[in-house]
Amino acid sequence: MVTFRKAVIMAMVLLCVVFFLYPRSPTVRNQRPSSAPSKPPGSEKPGKINKPVGAPPSSKPDIVNAVKAKEQQKLALAKVQSLPIDKQLAYHFPYEVTGKFPAFIWQTWKYTPSSNQFSEKFRPTEASWTQKHPTFVHEVITDQVALHLIKHLYSAVPDVLEAYLSMPLPILKADFFRYLILLARGGIYADIDTLALKPTTEWVPQSFNLKTIGLVIGIEADPDRPDWAEWYSRRIQFCQWTIKAKPGHPVLRGIVTNITLETLRRKRAGTLKSGHQSVVEWTGPAVWTDSIFSYFNDPEYFDMSSSKGNITFKNFTGMREPKKVGDVVVLPITSFSPGIGHSGAGPVDDPMAFVKHEFEGSWKPESERIIEPKSDEKAKSP
Ligand SMILES: *[C@@H]1O[C@H](CO)[C@@H](O)[C@H](O)[C@H]1NC(C)=O
Ligand SMILES: *[C@@H]1O[C@H](CO)[C@@H](O)[C@H](O)[C@H]1NC(C)=O
Ligand SMILES: *[C@@H]1O[C@H](CO)[C@@H](O)[C@H](O)[C@H]1NC(C)=O
Repeated sequence: MVTFRKAVIMAMVLLCVVFFLYPRSPTVRNQRPSSAPSKPPGSEKPGKINKPVGAPPSSKPDIVNAVKAKEQQKLALAKVQSLPIDKQLAYHFPYEVTGKFPAFIWQTWKYTPSSNQFSEKFRPTEASWTQKHPTFVHEVITDQVALHLIKHLYSAVPDVLEAYLSMPLPILKADFFRYLILLARGGIYADIDTLALKPTTEWVPQSFNLKTIGLVIGIEADPDRPDWAEWYSRRIQFCQWTIKAKPGHPVLRGIVTNITLETLRRKRAGTLKSGHQSVVEWTGPAVWTDSIFSYFNDPEYFDMSSSKGNITFKNFTGMREPKKVGDVVVLPITSFSPGIGHSGAGPVDDPMAFVKHEFEGSWKPESERIIEPKSDEKAKSP
């Protein structure tokens, strides 16, 4: 016979079973609209890791709760640090495509413009960015300041910090810095020897919805000739002397992750200081270009089911108008490389010319960047 007591106990057991067997909220599978980027997986983050399930009763004194919360935060951070680097970065620098492009202009140089050692030849280029963007925060970051800034921004991701600190050449750090600052803060990065020709508000056509765009890039070279490999490391090369991004963009997360892994691999293998010819492949335009194509072809972000093949240089060669792929706008070669006299680039006074690269960064081995010598690594590979 079932007594009332027994019935109550059975009901409670049943409730408990139901409670534990079913997830709190229905699990919604990632549903991706065709060729639109899905939310990066890591960006579903903080809640789950930060908030302990079943908050402590509020009757406890606040101080106890505060201590508990601190401990839990520490635990959560330790948990995050055990994740792969890209997941850590997604946690610390979440991406919101609908957010605004932050009004920052980031540049790096040995001296700030207020120093009398700041080279006169960079005054017009540096000033052009402020003139075209009077309401933006415009920072020229010195090596010393960059070090502090990266330490501050990336203290919670020790591998990235270690990679930055381990880099044996200023050029590697300068390359890495642009991806790091844009990943953490967003805005525009521009080399100190680039001239702003048009305000950034004119870079993307009015018909494009800025709430669906997170990255704006240009083309450095599009050498349509059989011997292109003697001049450039990739058939289409995207430029990294000017990049505009919203913080946390997956392309930036990808390149920071890969540069970190590659640098730490070289460090462990004791090859940090050898093979400097490979700057282009380590931190420069080659790896930048690869990261962008890797993103375009990543089924995690793009629904490939309706696509007729992978996205390659063929999708961008010879283009004359801006092109949107997912949340990335690729500008035609004239936009960031006007007046170069090849690859079909238009002149500096072309309406589509936005930024001119003066190639004046004397500290950079420009010969390495523009005309890549055959690197040891390349020669060795079969
Ligand atoms: C990172 O490196 C891996 C392994 O080499 C590669 O498959 C992937 O495409 C790279 N990702 C990016 C964003 O470059
Ligand atoms: C890229 O080119 C391929 C082959 O022509 C085409 O099937 C695909 O739709 C293109 N993708 C984009 C995003 O333009
Ligand atoms: C696209 O790229 C992937 C990975 O590199 C490859 O496995 C696949 O065969 C390619 N698809 C086409 C149609 O080229």
